[in-house]
Amino acid sequence: MAPPTLTPFQDKVIAVTGGSRGAGLAVVRYLLQRGAKVSTCATSATNLATAVAGLEEEMPELASKDRLMTTVVDISQNASVKTWIDATVARWGKLDGAANVAARMHSKVFPIEDFPLEDLQDMLQNNVVGSFNCMQHELKAMKDGGSLVNVGSQVTKYAQPGMSAYIASKMAIVGLTRAAAFEAIARKIRVNIVCPGATDTDMVRQPLILPSGESFTCTEDANFPALMKRFAKPEEVAAPIAFLLSDESAYVTKQEWYVDGGFYDNSYVG
Ligand SMILES: NC(=O)c1ccc[n+]([C@@H]2O[C@H](COP(=O)([O-])OP(=O)(O)OC[C@H]3O[C@@H](n4cnc5c(N)ncnc54)[C@H](OP(=O)(O)O)[C@@H]3O)[C@@H](O)[C@H]2O)c1
Repeated sequence: MAPPTLTPFQDKVIAVTGGSRGAGLAVVRYLLQRGAKVSTCATSATNLATAVAGLEEEMPELASKDRLMTTVVDISQNASVKTWIDATVARWGKLDGAANVAARMHSKVFPIEDFPLEDLQDMLQNNVVGSFNCMQHELKAMKDGGSLVNVGSQVTKYAQPGMSAYIASKMAIVGLTRAAAFEAIARKIRVNIVCPGATDTDMVRQPLILPSGESFTCTEDANFPALMKRFAKPEEVAAPIAFLLSDESAYVTKQEWYVDGGFYDNSYVG
C-alpha cells in the first residue's frame, strides 16, 4: 500500500454523476480537496454553475488549475453519457475511478395498484438505465486497477410502502453492481455500492404526495427509525464513497455498504 498522504487522489481522474447538488456535490468537494481531477455532470447547467461558484469560493486555487470539469448530461441517454466520458478522457486521459451518485426519487407515495405505469417507466429509465449507461462508458474508459462506486439506498434492505418504483430502481442498481464486480475483476477494477439512509439534501426535503392529495415532508424526530435519530450530512455519505474509490479499499469489491445511521426495519417513508 502507498505511504499515507493528505492528497490520496493527487492527479487521479474521477467521474462523478450528480455533482450539481446534494451528495454528488459533496463527493466532488471531498475529491477535489484531496487532489483529484473531477469531471462531473448533471442535467441543469444552472445548478452546475452554482456548484462551481461555491467550490471556487471555498478553493480559490481551482479557478486557475485544470481540475474541475462540468458537463450537462442526461444519464438516461446513452449518447449523452458517452459524449461526456469521451470528452473527459480526451482532456485528462483514462479514468481512475467513477462514482454514480445521480438519481431521482418519485414524489408520489402510492401503493402499486395506484402507481402510474409511466412514472415507474420514467424512474427505471432515469435510475436504472441511467446507471447502466454510466457504468458502460466509465468501465470502457477506466484504467486497469480502477474503482467504480454506485449509489443505492437503505430502501434496498428495508422496503417501505408506497416507494415501489424507487425501491425497484435501487434494487436493480445493486444487481448491476454485483454483475459488474465479476466482469471487471479481469482488469482488477473494483465495483461496490454505497447505500445511504436519509440524507439532508433536496431529495429528502422534497414534498411527498399521498393518493389523497395530501403532502408531507420527511422529518428527523424521535420516531425516525435510525439509531442516530438524524439525517446524514452529505459529506458523511461522500467520505465512504471516496474510501471505496481510493487505493485504501484495495481488497473491497462486490460490497453493499449501508451508510444509514443504523436504520432499522420500519414503515417509515423517505
Ligand atoms: N437524500 C436521501 O435521503 C437519499 C437516501 C438514500 C439514497 N439516496 C441516493 O443518494 C444519491 C444522491 O442523492 P441526493 O439526495 O444528493 O439527490 P439530489 O439532491 O436530489 O441530487 C440529485 C442529483 O442527481 C442529478 N441527476 C438526477 N437525474 C439525472 C440525470 N438524468 N442526468 C444527470 N444528472 C441527474 C441532479 O442533477 P440536477 O441538478 O441537474 O437536477 C442532482 O445533481 C442518489 O442516488 C439517491 O437516490 C439519497
